[in-house]
Order: sequence, then structure tokens, then C-alpha cells
Amino acid sequence: MARQPDAIALLKADHRKVEELFEKYEKTRSKKADIAKTICLELTVHTMIEEEIFYPACRAADIDADMMDEANVEHDGAKMLIAELEAGSPDDDFYDAKVKVLSEEIKHHVKEEEQRGGIFSQAREAELDLQALGEQMAARKKELLAQAKADGLPAPVTLTMKASPPEQGHAAA
Ligand SMILES: [Fe+2]
Ligand SMILES: [Fe+2]
Repeated sequence: MARQPDAIALLKADHRKVEELFEKYEKTRSKKADIAKTICLELTVHTMIEEEIFYPACRAADIDADMMDEANVEHDGAKMLIAELEAGSPDDDFYDAKVKVLSEEIKHHVKEEEQRGGIFSQAREAELDLQALGEQMAARKKELLAQAKADGLPAPVTLTMKASPPEQGHAAA
């Protein structure tokens, strides 16, 4: 059997895929709903495998706790926008803006994971078993994608947010 990509290769491949999807969203008129749905699914599964498997391993290996905390808060911010997109449709006001802001937030987050001194490079230095983590995440990803197809994934759970969402007002015309 072919060797699985290690944890970092797997997560980076996910990042590239989502970046491509955001680009496609900007270029299409007719496929916005489909692409947004795929973006939400890909990001939900990606954050789940990071939060269930990769991030805990990073924390256990003493990777900078402030950086890990920020990454968790960024994930939670993304979950809120993902929930918005899943509840809406591209015909809604602010829908394109929400996709755009999500793409910008993800770009920033991915940079913090991939840049020099970031989470991934610290994970390499910490000598985590990236091969084993990659295998675990690939297996979990497969399971989650099958679950998504069969009966949908459960609504994402935020790990760092405590307040109820603010009341909705109206944007000035
Ligand atoms: Fe990531
Ligand atoms: Fe992440």
C-alpha cells in the first residue's frame, strides 16, 4: 500500500484545496451554492481533524500555547461564518461578503500554521510522530466525509467562545 502523506503534507493539501475553492467561488456565477457547500464541508472536516488529533498532539509536545490558543479562537471564528453560509444562500444579502471574509480569515490562519516558526514548523522541531498523526487524520477524515454523505455532520462546536451571539440589528441602507 502507498505510504500516507504525513500530518503536515495532509493538512497543507487541504489548505491548497480550500484556497482553490475560494478562487473558484469568486469566478463563478452559477455554481456559488455548490462551491460554498464544498468549502464549508472541507473546512469543517479540516478543523475537526486538527482539533481532535493534531492540535492536542501539538499542545502535548509543548508547542507555544499562545499560538495554539489563537489558532483555536480563529477556528471558532470560522465556525460562526461557516454556520452563516450553511444557513443561507448566495442570493442573500451579505452572502458573498461572508464568503470573502471567511477566505481572508482562513488565509491569515493558514499563514500562522505554515509560516516559519508557525505551528507546523514547531511541530516538526518537536519531533512529533507526523507519520502516525497523518495516518490517524487520514482515517478520521475518511470517516467524517462518509458520515457527511450519509447523514450530515453534527453542527460544529466552538471550543473557546462563551457569549451568546449578539442580537441582530439592521445595516443602514
Ligand atoms: Fe489548517
Ligand atoms: Fe487550523
